[in-house]
Amino acid sequence: MDFLKWAISPWGQRVPIHIAWFLIWVAVIAGFLFFIVHATYLRYFAKPKEFQSSGSPLIAARIPEHVPRHSLTARLFHWIMAASMFTLLFTAFLPKVGMPFDWVTYHWIAGSVLTVSILFHIVHASFFMDFWSIWPDKIDLRDAFRRTLRFLGKPEPPPDKFAKYPLENKLYHAAIMAAGLSLVVTGVFMMFRVRTIFFPRNPYLFSDMTWGMMYVLHGLAGVGLIALIMVHVYFGLRPEKRPITKSMIFGWMSRDFYLKEHDPQRWPVESPISSPASKGEAPEGLRDAG
Ligand code: HEM
Repeated sequence: MDFLKWAISPWGQRVPIHIAWFLIWVAVIAGFLFFIVHATYLRYFAKPKEFQSSGSPLIAARIPEHVPRHSLTARLFHWIMAASMFTLLFTAFLPKVGMPFDWVTYHWIAGSVLTVSILFHIVHASFFMDFWSIWPDKIDLRDAFRRTLRFLGKPEPPPDKFAKYPLENKLYHAAIMAAGLSLVVTGVFMMFRVRTIFFPRNPYLFSDMTWGMMYVLHGLAGVGLIALIMVHVYFGLRPEKRPITKSMIFGWMSRDFYLKEHDPQRWPVESPISSPASKGEAPEGLRDAG
């Protein structure tokens, strides 16, 4: 069983040309296995979540009914990225699993939309959002350790409530970022192999071996994304995560959900009446983090 497809170059060199397409099914099956294992664990084995108590009732009383979570710009980015990713996945993989059609033009157009939206997101996240909110911090790591020991039955204190994003979401973001950036960088070079409106075709830009490795990386990141996106959609649809999904549509989550899962000290949010927002400025805690 070979994970790559090989060819012989005009110079007699054995070069990879792309991944073996059965890996598509490996990713789809891995996604479904994850659903089954996770849903079974939650239904029959998981204990109710326990957190350290956080903050005083005084702080809780200052939390508004609707807690702002994603700005309109961040939500637009998310949905444009989602639409382009689904278009990329379907145009790339349907022809490989027995539904042939002329996919390349749709694919590079969706790829260009994704590239521009990711460049926009990098600038937006770096200069207009709380950049560090999506990266694991010391408390996340300490709590991951505590949660693992508690899972193993050891007497550890419960973890703190989450900041804006739980560790799992931060790790997911890092994984999708690695796969997405690999696809964008290789995809932009691969556009030299086909006819686009951006630059003249030049299939001689790299050696056969370099092109081969690029197609392999593009394919591996692509099949990785199948499983990652399946897991993302699964969590988005799970009943206990629906308040988070709704916040990506409407921009806010309810005060009750915020107080149940989030620590006002790690993700500070104040009532607009007492905060600088009422004077037209966004307070620190209300700054959007994507
Ligand atoms: C969800 C993201 C993406 C997935 C799943 C994906 C998947 C794929 C796959 C499986 C192929 C076939 C590769 C092969 O034959 O070895 C391909 C080709 C290609 N992709 Fe992507 N891709 C994605 C994103 C992008 C992006 C962002 C761009 C452009 C910026 C892009 C541009 C291209 C181009 C130009 C080809 C070449 C077609 C050819 O040489 O015939 N892709 N993609």
